[in-house]
Amino acid sequence: MDNRRGLESTEKRVPKATFFFPPDFLWGTATSGHQVEGNNLNNDWWAWEQQRGRIQNDGRSGLACNWWENAEADLDRAAQLGNNAHRLSIEWSRVEPEPGRFDLDALSRYRQIIAAVRRRGMEPMVTLHHFTNPQWLAERGAWSRTTVVEAFVGYARRVAETVGDLVGLWIPINEPEVYVAMAYVEAKFPPGGGGFRVAMAAARNMLQAHAKVYHLIHDLCPGSAVGICHNLRIMEPKSKSLLDGWAARNLDHIYNDQFAQAVLTGRLRRPLGRGRIRGLAGTLDFYGLNYYTREMVNFSLAEPPPFFARRSFSPEAVMSDNRYGEIFPRGMFQAIKRAAAYRRPVYITANGLPDADDDQRPGFLITHLRQVWSAIQFNIPVKGYFHWSLVDNFEWDRGWVERFGLVGLDSTTQERTMRRSGELFGRICRAGRIDWEMVHEFAPETLDELFPQ
Ligand code: FCB
Repeated sequence: MDNRRGLESTEKRVPKATFFFPPDFLWGTATSGHQVEGNNLNNDWWAWEQQRGRIQNDGRSGLACNWWENAEADLDRAAQLGNNAHRLSIEWSRVEPEPGRFDLDALSRYRQIIAAVRRRGMEPMVTLHHFTNPQWLAERGAWSRTTVVEAFVGYARRVAETVGDLVGLWIPINEPEVYVAMAYVEAKFPPGGGGFRVAMAAARNMLQAHAKVYHLIHDLCPGSAVGICHNLRIMEPKSKSLLDGWAARNLDHIYNDQFAQAVLTGRLRRPLGRGRIRGLAGTLDFYGLNYYTREMVNFSLAEPPPFFARRSFSPEAVMSDNRYGEIFPRGMFQAIKRAAAYRRPVYITANGLPDADDDQRPGFLITHLRQVWSAIQFNIPVKGYFHWSLVDNFEWDRGWVERFGLVGLDSTTQERTMRRSGELFGRICRAGRIDWEMVHEFAPETLDELFPQ
């Protein structure tokens, strides 16, 4: 009998594997106060946005996504996506508009918003500092002065006392390495410069503040978990030259490891500093990993010490809008492996891309989540994934040019449109898996990558 026809059709059939995620996996999106709330009149970013030339197209946060008045409408959308978690941040300038004076109405509004997250079946993850400072703190030198530490602890205490019973996952400071680089070295965030030494002083103050707030939250909210949040950029040498190799390793170490290693060990290494910070060692219950992109690094004497590093994107890179970054899904796996070395549970606390017409985001979601899935298969305890972001929002120095939302926003009318990627994310979150049908329907260009024949 000739069985060859049957055999051929089996060979041609696409293996319809399914990528299952653990049943208790947290699925959510991430936002930050200033980027979504609107009318944060009293912080350093608001003042910065009023200066011409600071923001692309002179964009301003303005009403942003109007969350201060109606976060609930977007939280409904998050719940419709089948999310069981949401990451948000508290705006310090609202809670403490003048030094030592706390605004009880603002605190109760945050309690209302966080309760609204919970009521929709979502676990809140709360960040206390996400790039912005009260204007009064900025006038006192913000993070460059050691007095910031006690001020931050005072603010954190009031927040923890107000919402602590509703929150189990805390991040004291979002992406400290991004903040100090952008504020003091690249001068794209306020105060717009200061230099590398000031950046390192600010980073040390952030470490002190992190340590104190870690213990404070454990005292006030027993049983909750407090983590770090790091933006891990994959860095590779641009060529095989020894100098490029050195420049890439050096920048990678300073940018990607220094802060987290200090938190793990309590010890500072140059150029961050020397000696120990009391109470800092081991102050991470989880590693919050933000992953976006990969960069190539080459040695250049034209760049300032201690880096001598120029960053660029690979010439073959598939880029997202506005040349924001390379779309490099394998980097997600590499980044998770590095985070896992800290021997703590890992949450993906942000991952996304600017994509106004949404032609890349469905494939991005699928290929990046597949790498998260792979890491879990290797027994790395990845506990959740928060996509940046739920809705288009005010993207710092890039203003409204970059659109990161699963939901599109017309910032002049406040009208929302669910993007296809939002529909896809909803399907994935509700099912807790990625299957062949989803890939086929939403991102057929990734079929070969996911289901190799
Ligand atoms: C994150 C930042 C967030 C936003 C996204 C694109 O890492 O924390 O505020 O800028 O990048």
